[in-house]
Amino acid sequence: MNPCEAYLAAKKTVIEAHLQQLLPVTEPAFAPLYKAMNYSLLAGGKRIRPILFLAALEALGKESSVYMDVACALECVHSYSLIHDDLPAMDNDDLRRGKPTNHRVFGEGMAILAGDGLLTFAFELLARQRVADAEKIGACIRVLAHAAGPAGMVGGQAYDLLSEGHGDIGTEGLKLMHRGKTGVIFEAVMSMAGILAAAPAAVRQVLQVYAEQLGLTFQITDDILDACGTEAELGKPVGSDVKNNKATYVTLFSLDKAKQLAQESAQQAVAAVAPLGASARFLRDLPEYLLVRVK
Ligand code: IPE
Ligand code: IPE
Ligand code: MG
Ligand code: MG
Ligand code: MG
Repeated sequence: MNPCEAYLAAKKTVIEAHLQQLLPVTEPAFAPLYKAMNYSLLAGGKRIRPILFLAALEALGKESSVYMDVACALECVHSYSLIHDDLPAMDNDDLRRGKPTNHRVFGEGMAILAGDGLLTFAFELLARQRVADAEKIGACIRVLAHAAGPAGMVGGQAYDLLSEGHGDIGTEGLKLMHRGKTGVIFEAVMSMAGILAAAPAAVRQVLQVYAEQLGLTFQITDDILDACGTEAELGKPVGSDVKNNKATYVTLFSLDKAKQLAQESAQQAVAAVAPLGASARFLRDLPEYLLVRVK
């Protein structure tokens, strides 16, 4: 295991231990809802967003372990987005994180509500934490709400849905969709770390550029893996994009061009965090780790 993989594994363990105890059943009559929420939240996954958040704090010289609620709020928002993304009215997929999708197990109505529950609970978690002062956590809530909402992730998902079957949405359309679906959450993750660490403006700008480029690398590799990964390695169906006539980096360009573009954005991400020095080692290693998945 190289240092990047070791860091990912160690942080995943800590995050999952925290996620385990986040949503106990307090009202027995609501137990089926909590079961559906915990089913997806605890199903595994790479935990990239909370890990990135903790790594950014550490790169900025902060103790990260006190911010586990904030890190896990990011994973709650992400897990909600996956539950809804898989619904029959969206991508209509049957497998996620190696298990049947939420709606396949609990039914569509409960899956919609499990997503609603996770999204709302994420903001309760943020609002009730007592580590950061009110001004900083208020700023984090604004940043995440904006990124997850209609101007960000929900907007990107809507654009994705509207563009289904419209083969060529153009490079600009594709960039807009990818940044909305994936990029803005990565940007919010880094921005929240910058806020909590009270980083100077120049450092926040570094994190912003890194997040933009890393988000792009991430979604391009997701597109590539949908085209040529395996269900066993991904824990989700391959060929979902073709099935739904999605516009992706692979369909708009080619597999080789998509790989080249992923490489270019990864290089830019690495270059962006160079000024942060040794403490940013994981942030520097992560883009290459993402690329290895599609080599
Ligand atoms: C999948 O996200 C959806 C995208 C935004 C590409 P991840 O690839 O982070 O999924 P998990 O969390 O590891 O399951
Ligand atoms: C989903 O994108 C992005 C969000 C959930 C916001 P995809 O539809 O490409 O994700 P996968 O491939 O199903 O994981
Ligand atoms: Mg989708
Ligand atoms: Mg999908
Ligand atoms: Mg995909």
